Formats: sequence, structure tokens, C-alpha cells
Amino acid sequence: MASKKDTARVERLREAIRRHQHLYYVLDAPEISDAEFDVLWRELVDLEEAHPDLRSDDSPTVRVGGTAQDRFAKVQHPTPMLSLGNAFRAEDMTAWNERVLRLLPSGTDLAWVTEPKIDGLTVVLHYEEGRFRLGATRGDGRVGEDVTANLRTVRSLPLRIPASGRKKPPRRLVVRGEVYLTREDFERFNAEQAERGEKTYANPRNFAAGSLRQLDSAITAARPLRLWAYQVIDADGLDVGSQWEALEALRGLGFPVTPESRRWTSIENVIAECASWAEERARLPYETDGLVIKIDDAALQERLGAVGNAPRWAIAYKYPSSEVVTRLERIGVNVGRTGVLMPFAELEPVEVGGVTVRNATLHNEDYIRERDIREGDRVVVKRAGDVIPQVLRSLPDLRTGDETPFEMPRTCPVCGEPARRLEGEAATYCVNSACPEQLVRLVEYFVSRGAMDIEGFGIKQAELFVAEGMIEDVADIFSLRAEQLEGMEGYKKRRIDNLIAAIAAARDRPVSRTLTALGIRGVGGVVAETLVDHFGSIEAIAAASAEELEAVDGIGPILAQSVVDWFESPHNRAVVEKLRKAGVRMAEDRTVPNAGEQPLDGLTFVITGTLPSMSRDQASARIKSAGGKVTSSVSKKTSYVLAGEAAGGKLEKAQKLDVAVIDEAELLRMIGNG
Ligand code: IVH
Repeated sequence: MASKKDTARVERLREAIRRHQHLYYVLDAPEISDAEFDVLWRELVDLEEAHPDLRSDDSPTVRVGGTAQDRFAKVQHPTPMLSLGNAFRAEDMTAWNERVLRLLPSGTDLAWVTEPKIDGLTVVLHYEEGRFRLGATRGDGRVGEDVTANLRTVRSLPLRIPASGRKKPPRRLVVRGEVYLTREDFERFNAEQAERGEKTYANPRNFAAGSLRQLDSAITAARPLRLWAYQVIDADGLDVGSQWEALEALRGLGFPVTPESRRWTSIENVIAECASWAEERARLPYETDGLVIKIDDAALQERLGAVGNAPRWAIAYKYPSSEVVTRLERIGVNVGRTGVLMPFAELEPVEVGGVTVRNATLHNEDYIRERDIREGDRVVVKRAGDVIPQVLRSLPDLRTGDETPFEMPRTCPVCGEPARRLEGEAATYCVNSACPEQLVRLVEYFVSRGAMDIEGFGIKQAELFVAEGMIEDVADIFSLRAEQLEGMEGYKKRRIDNLIAAIAAARDRPVSRTLTALGIRGVGGVVAETLVDHFGSIEAIAAASAEELEAVDGIGPILAQSVVDWFESPHNRAVVEKLRKAGVRMAEDRTVPNAGEQPLDGLTFVITGTLPSMSRDQASARIKSAGGKVTSSVSKKTSYVLAGEAAGGKLEKAQKLDVAVIDEAELLRMIGNG
């Protein structure tokens, strides 16, 4: 049995984690850093592991999922999940308004609520005594599927309501909402899926649907799903007299509710909102296909009722779809920086939402095969917001017989060397690590912002220098000389000097940047920092075994293997060696002379507030030169918080975690010149 102390601690941690998740996922206003959050999270996981009797299925840790299910049980909805009638023009809105007015006593005062029509998947969420008990898909409107385990993994879905505070929850509450993805998450995840050779989705809605219907909730947990709640279906212990009140109440209970919802008291303003929404919606980070307009008053809603499966009290104002049909003239193949061959569609140019689209992505061989997309086909192309245009499907009924099925080339379209598809992967790779196109992409990535950040160096320079034979691998960037550039078109003295200086400056980038720049699959900025923090140098990372890599928090087996594979290649090792010889920083300056004898050896400091005689940077430099470490967030591992005037959250945190707090004078005494 767990002690009273542990029981109380677990409750405190859960409460804190719920609050921080709500701040992070719902309000977009985190109060603590990810690293600090991880400290809370780890402690809770450890306690739950040590004391199985403290486990509870409403613990935030349960979201991680894991239990496989063989099928989804059917769930009867408390009331039918209605759909919506559509309006496309202002006249449709006026007509709808007139129908409504005819059914109500004359002189009824009306108000409307407008909300984004989220392009996701409807879910029905049941809470009892404030706990999330059951979540279902819409299904046919009357009966849906029980996807509770998967919904538990959606981070913005409150498992307990209210999310914070001590208010009493309603005894029973059924909420309707939409599970969706941001465009950015959708694109990134889809691209990663394609690279891993796994299923890709045509749009965020399909993605959400596919993710919620996974039998293994661990898969759902790894997907960046989100929730917007917009309707109270049924409640006991919560009074809402209108849609507007319902939205407020949901927000108050900790549900994510779109801030774009508005209340209006004149239909003219509602219609004006419909018109301006066309532009506004493009700015949202997620997809919407229109606005939903709802009569605010709940009693009037009831009175108006429904026809068929659409309520009379609400309507969807929709925008013309961003899908168009055009001819796919040819399927081309690009080479990515990892050597992946990426098929894309060359289209008969077509306008979608005011932009002419000529190319669209086709992801990989399987994507094309599953959809039977052929050269010459009429295809449906979608372009939404900033999302890269996609070929959704072909229209086989419109075929003339002249279409040709696609065959993935057996050789790289650029260098002609063999291309290989690895077993179990959808991606085909050019195996020639010296492939010029691959090299161009690799160089482009190497110099990019998130990597070595070399100003004045982009795709144009990458193409030029590779084509001229001046660069044969990324390390050659550092041996570019001014004389080589002289006389090249567009390269005047100033430009050459700037470029050479920018390259020189990149030698001194933090090691994690250099590691990122190498372009190892899966090793982006965050992973690179984690690795460098742990191993200290690229050499140590190169020497690490898969097991040693996996032992690092945040590094999984696939990533570990990818790192090992990369460093196993003699070519890659040679490049690293060349970079080192070129003077690129390869190790953190951790070792200081007389290590072990420094006054602050092994101590970690966090600096906060304004210090009396030095800036925080100066203080940080003093600490480091005395052998100490400086980090940005307070955790139990922090030895001292150095606090000055107007210190805020970090000081509080230190007090909470019982971390010693010192002032500048004390620091100076510690390093021996106080
Ligand atoms: S209200 C009776 N509000 O649109 C209430 N629906 O075409 C009917 N949807 O199946 C739904 N955002 O999946 C409502 N803010 C919103 C919505 C919304 C998206 C979806 C919902 C529904 C479909 C109707």
C-alpha cells in the first residue's frame, strides 16, 4: 500500500499536470517550460509505477494509451446527432432567416452565434461526476462507435472537469465536439508517415478519422490530434439557456472552445460575418469549411425543432471547395536530401482559390498505387490554406485508354545509379551518397536556418557550387575560397566577402546545430540537443551503441538505429572528420583546466531577476568559468537559484522545490572574490 504522503503527492502532481496541460494545449499559454513539465510527469510516472494501487484511469498518464482492442463497441447517442443544412450565398441566409421568423411569434427578439465550421470528425463525449467516461464517433447519427481509449490520448480533451479549481462538476454532461489537426501538424505528420512508408491521409479530417479508429491507442497517442468543443447535448447539474452560455460554460469547465465564436443581434451583421469569414478563416491554423450559424436562445431552438436530420435553428454557411479537377500530365520524381525519391504530379495548370497550381505532391509509390493514379488521368487536386497541393484521387470513369500506370524508376532520375526500396518501407532511395541532387538538398539543409544558418547561402548557391564541382560534400563548404567565386556571375567583391565571413562564422555554431545539419534521419533540433547534452560531442555520439543511445531520455529505438546507421557509413564518417579538420566545433567546451578543483564544479544554477552589479550574461559567464552550469528552468536538480531584484516565477518555483536561493554577494563569495 502506498503511504499517505505518496497518495497526496500523486494527487498534487495529477492536479498540477492537468492544469499545465490545460494551459498548454487548450489556452496556449504555458506557465512552465517543457523540461519543467517533464520533471512533474516523470515523478508521477515513477510513483504510479512503484505503487500500482495509486493507478487510476483518469490519471493524465493514462493518455499514453497501450491497450489493444479488437473492435469498437456500438454506442447509442442520447439524442440523434443532427447534421446541418447548407447556405452558400447571402440570399440563402436571408431565406433561412425568413423561414425561422415565420415559425416564431412576430416580434420575437433573435440573437445568433456564429462559430467556425471545423473540418474534423464529430465526437460525443460523456462525463459523469466530472470524469470522462465514454467517447463515441458520430456514426450514422443515432449509433456511433466507442473510441474512448483513443480519445483519452487527445491532449486537449479534459479527462476531468472542471480542469482546475474547486468547483463542483455537473453530475452528468454530454458534449459534442470536433477532433481535428492543425494544418502544420497534418503536413508534418503526413510527410513523416510517407518517409516511414506508412499510410498517408488526403486531408486533416481523414487523418483524424483514421487516427481515432486505430485499434491500438498507442498509435492514436502519437498523433497530434486536438479538440474543439461546441455543443452541450445533455446535462444534469449545468444550466445553459443559450448557445452562448453553453460555450462559456464549456470554456469554464476546461474544454477547448474556439475564440472565434461571436454573438450577434442583427441578421445583417451575421451575413456580413459570413462574407468576411472567407478571409479570416484562411488565417486560422486549422481548416474550416465555413461558419455555423446558430439561433442563440435554447427555448427558441427547441421550439423550432428539426426537419429530417437538420435542425431548423442552425445552418452551415459554406465556401466553395478548394478541390478542382485537372489533367495529370506527367509524374516526375524529385530526390530528397536523404536520397528518397519523391514522386510529384505535373498538372495542367489550374486555379484553386486564386492561386495557379502546376505541381502537387504524390508522396510515394504506394500512395499512387493505392489510388490507381496514372499519367494522363483526370485527377482531383486539393489546395487548402498553406497546405502543399495534393492529388486526392483519379477519376477512372473519365479515362480514354491512353493513360499509363506509374512505375517507380529503378534508377535515380538524376545520377542514374540504382534506386532501392527497402523491405517494409514505402520510400525508394537513391543509394548513391554522392548523388548530385541529393548533395544539393543536403547542402541546402546544412546551411539552412535551423542548422548551420549561413546567411546568403541557399538553394541557388547549393545548386551552383555543386554543379561547378566546388562542393563534393557538405564539409567542402568550409574550404570555399574567395578566388573561386571571383568572376562568377552575380558575385561581386562585397557579396563574396559576406559569404566567406558567414561561412567562417558557422564554424562556431553550437554542436547541436552541427549535428542537426548532418541530416541524420529523425535528428532535428530537439533530438540533437538531447544527444549533445548527454554525450557532449559528435565523436561520443558516433561511438555510442544503439543501446547507449536508447538509454537517453527521449531517444527511441528507431532513432537510435538511425543514428548508428548513419555513423556506420564510411562516407559519413569521412565527412565528419573533414568538418572537424575544417575547424567546425564538434564538442561542447565542458572540460576546463583543473577540472575538479573549480569552486562551482558539479553545481547547477538558474539566474533570475536583476542583479545589483552585473548582467545575467555576465553572471552566467562567471559561473561557467568557475566550473558551474547554468540552465534556464528550475528543477530538483538545480543546486542554486541566483535571484536578483524582481525575481518572479523561478524564485517561487525554487521555494516550492526547496532549492537554495542565493544573491549576487553570496555567489561572489562562493567563487572566491566576494
Ligand atoms: S453544430 C445540431 N457546430 O459540421 C448541431 N457542427 O455539416 C449540429 N461541425 O456533423 C452541429 N464545426 O461535424 C456544429 N461549430 C460547429 C461545427 C460543426 C463543425 C460539423 C459537425 C457536423 C457537420 C455538419
